[in-house]
Amino acid sequence: MTSKITVVGAGHVGSTLAYSLAVSGLVREIVLVDADRGRAEGEAMDIAHAVSFSSPVNVRAGDVADTAGSLVTVIAAGAAQRPGQTRDELLASNVEMTRALVPQLVQASPDGQLLMATNPVDTLTVAALQMSGLPSSRVYGSGTVLDTARLRNELSAHYGIDARSVHAYVLGEHGDREFVAWSTATIGNIPLDTYCSLTGTCWGQAERDDIERRVRNAAYEIIQRKGATNYAIAASLKRIIEAVVRDQNSVLTVSTLLEGQYGLTGICMGLPAVVNRGGVRRLLPVPLSPDETVRLQHSATAVQATVAAAGLANA
Ligand SMILES: NC(=O)c1ccc[n+]([C@@H]2O[C@H](COP(=O)([O-])OP(=O)(O)OC[C@H]3O[C@@H](n4cnc5c(N)ncnc54)[C@H](O)[C@@H]3O)[C@@H](O)[C@H]2O)c1
Repeated sequence: MTSKITVVGAGHVGSTLAYSLAVSGLVREIVLVDADRGRAEGEAMDIAHAVSFSSPVNVRAGDVADTAGSLVTVIAAGAAQRPGQTRDELLASNVEMTRALVPQLVQASPDGQLLMATNPVDTLTVAALQMSGLPSSRVYGSGTVLDTARLRNELSAHYGIDARSVHAYVLGEHGDREFVAWSTATIGNIPLDTYCSLTGTCWGQAERDDIERRVRNAAYEIIQRKGATNYAIAASLKRIIEAVVRDQNSVLTVSTLLEGQYGLTGICMGLPAVVNRGGVRRLLPVPLSPDETVRLQHSATAVQATVAAAGLANA
């Protein structure tokens, strides 16, 4: 099954996503849109030349009209974090950009889906949802899919187990108030605490806190060293697109609208949801511990504050 994907923003994230999609054999057509048309053209040309080594795919730069009929439009454009800068500091300019872009993109692809990557991603998903007029099943963000990948990578390295056999989630805000749902973590279907006791590899609270800190601060650490993050976020976005294109019903912690789940309404956050060709089919209720429930509430309070600061509350 092949499909057309638009990537808005041909910077670090967008161009790496376009490249990984192009060599994946997953899609038929990729359109790269950027305010800097030359940059989009240069990236599209370079990526297209790599396609000789993989399945045919049409990669090109374009404007909004060229995106018509996209199954998924990814928004990875706008201001990015500079060293030491938080995601929330990008708010005002990226909300304005979303306001300018989303109506045109939806007009070009009224039956498609919007996948937000631009930060602060949870608030911008709320913005895109309001500005698109689309149902929430078709407007969602990358949420904590990347953070969850980072966590699974840490656990995989510690236990010497394939990350795909490690099931553990980072939930809530994609940002400084995200948290690990340790109580639901499993390795090969064995609860993490049981697995630790069986194998004599138990962590104390301090070690868990340390892992969580590393996951939460990963973007700061990487940006300080190389100026941007691109590979793992591109892999995360590609994984979400794969679930859509192949109608996989995959459970992914995308940022999606809460409508009473966990007692929360009107904000988007990263929580496990079923993703298929129609977008987000449903949110799954995770049985959180009392402490994790409090941490989810803290995350929600932070996103609510950012949504209000952006003038998006009760819009
Ligand atoms: N969700 C996540 O997990 C995650 C991870 C990494 C980065 N990000 C976010 O993704 C965004 C992009 O990051 P990056 O490192 O690729 O930035 P970048 O600066 O490398 O690229 C941004 C691109 O957006 C383009 N752009 C700006 N305004 C535009 C507009 N109105 N229309 C079209 N194009 C426009 C710029 O010309 C530039 O090419 C940032 O907000 C960043 O914080 C999110």
